[in-house]
Amino acid sequence: MRTLTGIIVAGIVLNTMSQCTAEQQSPNPDSTIHIIPRPASMDVRDGLFHFGHQTLIVAQSQAGAEAARLVDYLAPAMGFRLNVVADSPGTENVVRLEIESSQESRLGEEGYEFEITARSIVIRAADKAGLFYAIQTLRQLLAPAVFDKEEAEGIEWSVPCVHIIDYPRFKWRGLLIDPARHFIPRQDVERFIDAMALHKFNRLQIHLTDDQGWRLEIRKFPQLTEIGAWMDYSTMRQGQDRADGRRPGGFYRQEDIRHLVRYASERYVTIVPEIEMPAHTGAAIVSYPHIGLYPEKLNALAPQKRWTANERVLAPRPQTVAFMQDVLTEVMALFPSKYIHIGGDEANTGHWAKSHQMQALKHRLGLKDEAELHSWFIRQMDEFLTRHGRQLIGWDEIIQGGLAPGAVVMSWRGQAGGITAARAGHDVIMAPTSHTYFDYYQGPKETEPRAIGGYIPLEKVYTFEPIPAELTDTQAERVLGGQGQLWGEYMADQKHREYMAYPRATALSEVLWSPRESRDYEQFTIRLAQHLKRLNRMGVNCRPTD
Ligand code: ACM
Repeated sequence: MRTLTGIIVAGIVLNTMSQCTAEQQSPNPDSTIHIIPRPASMDVRDGLFHFGHQTLIVAQSQAGAEAARLVDYLAPAMGFRLNVVADSPGTENVVRLEIESSQESRLGEEGYEFEITARSIVIRAADKAGLFYAIQTLRQLLAPAVFDKEEAEGIEWSVPCVHIIDYPRFKWRGLLIDPARHFIPRQDVERFIDAMALHKFNRLQIHLTDDQGWRLEIRKFPQLTEIGAWMDYSTMRQGQDRADGRRPGGFYRQEDIRHLVRYASERYVTIVPEIEMPAHTGAAIVSYPHIGLYPEKLNALAPQKRWTANERVLAPRPQTVAFMQDVLTEVMALFPSKYIHIGGDEANTGHWAKSHQMQALKHRLGLKDEAELHSWFIRQMDEFLTRHGRQLIGWDEIIQGGLAPGAVVMSWRGQAGGITAARAGHDVIMAPTSHTYFDYYQGPKETEPRAIGGYIPLEKVYTFEPIPAELTDTQAERVLGGQGQLWGEYMADQKHREYMAYPRATALSEVLWSPRESRDYEQFTIRLAQHLKRLNRMGVNCRPTD
């Protein structure tokens, strides 16, 4: 702990003046302030507010959790904990957190206003989320050392006087992680959420199930994790598998999920669970062969032999529909998210075309082709989720064969699927491979760790525009926002995941939060240089910029 130092007012004034000169000489306020994502409006003024031991946080009870979070954020590096009080008549050396619901028409649900003078900081928001985002901005106004996990010596804990009004451009500011391919321990998911929160992301899609693993405890079907969460092989490429003595895998117990959901929601991140169907279901079929196409074939094999011996697509029989709806019942009990993602991508329905049983089912349902059978299956899930007050999201393949009435489309094969869906009056999230696949290379293949393919450097992400020019203003309102994807085939650990995510996710955060007209890549790179110091101090394994 540093020794207690009184605040010397004259010192502040001196500081203020030197800072003030620097500010006045600077034609561009962003030359001293480096916030990512860039605030909607910012007016830099003369002077500094100085944090010290005597600085009081004044927060009404509804703002208490955010006040506590601010104290927790600052304490490790500052070496002291600020005091929080419910009220204070004083106007000097205070940070006020104020919730005024009447501000919603001006700031929206997530916006905030920030007034820093040499005497006080006043943060106003219509709701707690806005306070939380203001705190993320405040952290970025301090020296990067504030992100240290241990006390940083010799740092001046001051912030420039500034008036900020800030709110997001889009409601859906998402990232996807993929523990199905390589399991991600709960603590790593938490660290990932910490970095998301700093960039004002608010949706974390977790791809919980795929061919390589089922990662969610489902009480009704324990084999999903007893069998489906563990592989005898380190890879699952057909024909290349070798039992190598390792049993890669893992899963989240329901109590892990409850903990994660709470951890995320305290940081204004909603976890959106993704339960893949009807394809990418190898692990589920291995565990319960009767939901697959040829159960008699799989039942004859020991579980460890089943992994590569099935078509990895569900057989959409009524029993399979009931099975997946039972899974969704437990998913809904665990995840409060209004949106539940059911995948829907890359289903090789050619396997249904070859199955006599599936052909008979198709005729019985009066469906024309396999695309309609796919849509019929998705519609069963849509009706089920809607009946329970939730909303289905699916990858853009769910459009083929007819879109389920309540469905939200996540457009990944470019933006065409999103355009079709928005025109049909559906909500849309843009997540195209062209700009948001962070499992693609971000530099020359020769010098980068192995990635799945493609090439999406930082600048390409920054030029992403979630609203396609083809949409009318009314249709454009259907675009909820965008999302960056970190598919996990080649990301075996957190270091690698962070390397692929950052700094590209910083660019995406600005695309999704900041006003479109304020985007300026060169100016962004100047802010990023400073921002990388923060990420480094947080321990985020950023890829160095070129
Ligand atoms: C996807 O990348 N298959 C959604």
